Amino acid sequence: LRGRSLSVTSLSGLPVWEAERLPVEDLLLFEVSWEVTNKVGGICTVIQTKAKTTADEWGENYFLIGPYFEHNMKTQVEQCEPTNDAVRRAIDTMNKHGCQVYFGRWLIEGSPYVVLFDISSSAWNLDRWKGDFWEACSVGIPHHDREANDMLIFGSLTAWFLKEVTDHADGKHVIAQFHEWQAGTGLILSRARKLPIATIFTTHATLLGRYLCAANIDFYNQLDKFDIDKEAGERQIYHRYCMERASVHCAHVFTTVSEITAIEAEHMLKRKPDVVTPNGLNVKKFSAVHEFQNLHAMYKARIQDFVRGHFYGHLDFDLEKTLFLFIAGRYEFSNKGADIFLESLSRLNFLLRMHKSNVTVVVFFIMPAKTNNFNVETLKGQAVRKQLWDTVHSLKEKFGKKLYDGLLRGEIPDMNTILDRDDLTIMKRAIFSTQRQSLPPVTTHNMIDDSTDPILSTIRRIGLFNNRADRVKVILHPEFLSSTSPLLPMDYEEFVRGCHLGVFPSYYEPWGYTPAECTVMGIPSVTTNLSGFGCFMQEHVADPTAYGIYIVDRRFRSPDDSCNQLTQFLYGFCKQSRRQRIIQRNRTERLSDLLDWRYLGRTDGFRYPRPSSVPPSPSGSQTSSPQSSDVEDEDEDERYDEEEEAERDRLNIKSPFSLNHVPKGKKKLHGEYKN
Ligand code: UDP
Ligand code: G6P
Ligand code: GLC
Repeated sequence: LRGRSLSVTSLSGLPVWEAERLPVEDLLLFEVSWEVTNKVGGICTVIQTKAKTTADEWGENYFLIGPYFEHNMKTQVEQCEPTNDAVRRAIDTMNKHGCQVYFGRWLIEGSPYVVLFDISSSAWNLDRWKGDFWEACSVGIPHHDREANDMLIFGSLTAWFLKEVTDHADGKHVIAQFHEWQAGTGLILSRARKLPIATIFTTHATLLGRYLCAANIDFYNQLDKFDIDKEAGERQIYHRYCMERASVHCAHVFTTVSEITAIEAEHMLKRKPDVVTPNGLNVKKFSAVHEFQNLHAMYKARIQDFVRGHFYGHLDFDLEKTLFLFIAGRYEFSNKGADIFLESLSRLNFLLRMHKSNVTVVVFFIMPAKTNNFNVETLKGQAVRKQLWDTVHSLKEKFGKKLYDGLLRGEIPDMNTILDRDDLTIMKRAIFSTQRQSLPPVTTHNMIDDSTDPILSTIRRIGLFNNRADRVKVILHPEFLSSTSPLLPMDYEEFVRGCHLGVFPSYYEPWGYTPAECTVMGIPSVTTNLSGFGCFMQEHVADPTAYGIYIVDRRFRSPDDSCNQLTQFLYGFCKQSRRQRIIQRNRTERLSDLLDWRYLGRTDGFRYPRPSSVPPSPSGSQTSSPQSSDVEDEDEDERYDEEEEAERDRLNIKSPFSLNHVPKGKKKLHGEYKN
């Protein structure tokens, strides 16, 4: 759908205008998702990051449709009146019939229009709509599945809205893209009612894939062997699976986000996607080439501060030799690979201790779970740190004043008496306040399911309790990050920039935004050959490891072997010197164009060669490098070497990422690409 005009002649079952080549001005584009203005996971990231490029191309004719939640509306949406007549009339009609439909601009880059439906205010229609849905496709939804019922309301409202729009579209043709099964009922109903709309269904995962993988089944080697109806029934998701499968088969165009999910869809949903559309990002380039390195240093300092508080009384490790690793995303313990990550951390801890390494690793798990807010011990840690800071600050003031007075009088004060007895007492008291009886906590919040929580249970089993002797420390932060948090006031992006390595050893990951986001911020990451992103990188980068993209083999190895491989990656990473880490970050960041929405369509057949001045991989580089990790180097010098290397690469690589480069088979018109 990129470009200023659309031609869809090859696809069957489209409305009558299919064969025409229509300018954008004659079209209306609606994108429907439960994650519009409503962050749950990566689908929100798809929509949010693509909004600017889409709004640039489609202008006033682009609308997002999502659910209304009061808090989201208040914090993210600026309400306004629709300028489009068909949209305004549709909203008015629905509101007159007792619905609550909101319209405004989503305050993100591109500020796209959003149409939001209040689900609860329309819930009284549920029974009737269940009947309509049954009529349309013979799928019944049990009353106890609250989520599926909400999705039916959402879909019924969407189909109603689209009907009203098409009734008054004034000759404009309508295209609607529906994301994931949650939005799918809108598509099914629109088709059943024969609305004159071209429909696209995009899946970001399959329900069965998620469930089967979470059950630790050897999924990818038996894709063709599952009795899928039976599997869905046994997992009590038969009705959801029907909603998903009907959406897929009703759509004119079916797309998914990666090749690996395309194969999965063929088996789990019995339709091969027409198009694979890899997920992109909205990449921002800084005017200063090394700005992202400066940001790393700046945000790392903030994380270091948090760690000072969290580990108060146990700060017998050197923060300059401490590496920050993290895993983040929706809490799916084994699908997201938290299981093998913890196991590898236990092995890494052993290796670092055995080799008497002076490196400490602090690992953050950012995965939302049910909690009763922050725990007291964690908050106390930050309070102790702040108090210590205040004490130091007041002593510093006093010291400075005495020094100033002395110098004014032409004498250097006696350093032994410049601070008096009381000052010493204050200092001793401050040191006493940093003593603690307990170990630094493993979790920052009171967990509701503490005793059964899979991360905590594994930590108990492997004994990673933040003991002094442990070289690997763990912190579970069971909530997404926010700059307004009283504990760790940082946005997710700031946090990622401040870390050294993102670790995402997923088993089930149709795309996986988290490592992609690391890449564009110049932070190395671990991914797997079962994630859409990992496979995409393998296809487009000759030696991903050399660029700081470590790909764990979870497809052809046993879980234990994958764990060993991950442990080796982590251990190799810990052995790098600062200088090597800086070089690696520069290389990682160079891949970011590959992931930019603006260029994604142009990467066919393109491959990044290995960097010219190679150590082939970071773990290899530590042997070929003259420096050992114990020697800290002059960062700046190395940075210029690296710039030269980058320049050499630029000359060698025929990059498709420039606006003047026209990939084979594509025409360049008026300085823009037309598909
Ligand atoms: N994320 C976030 N705040 C956090 C941690 C994660 O907004 O504190 C976002 C992250 O930026 C990413 C998304 O959550 O875009 C997770 O998407 P991914 O595709 O990796 O996985 P999904 O959850 O969709 O399976
Ligand atoms: C960036 C900064 C450097 C800093 C370095 C630390 O490159 O520009 O000034 O020394 O980060 O790197 P590290 O991997 O040790 O956090
Ligand atoms: C899904 C997948 C994730 C993907 C995201 C966006 O939630 O789990 O891998 O990145 O959708 O497509």
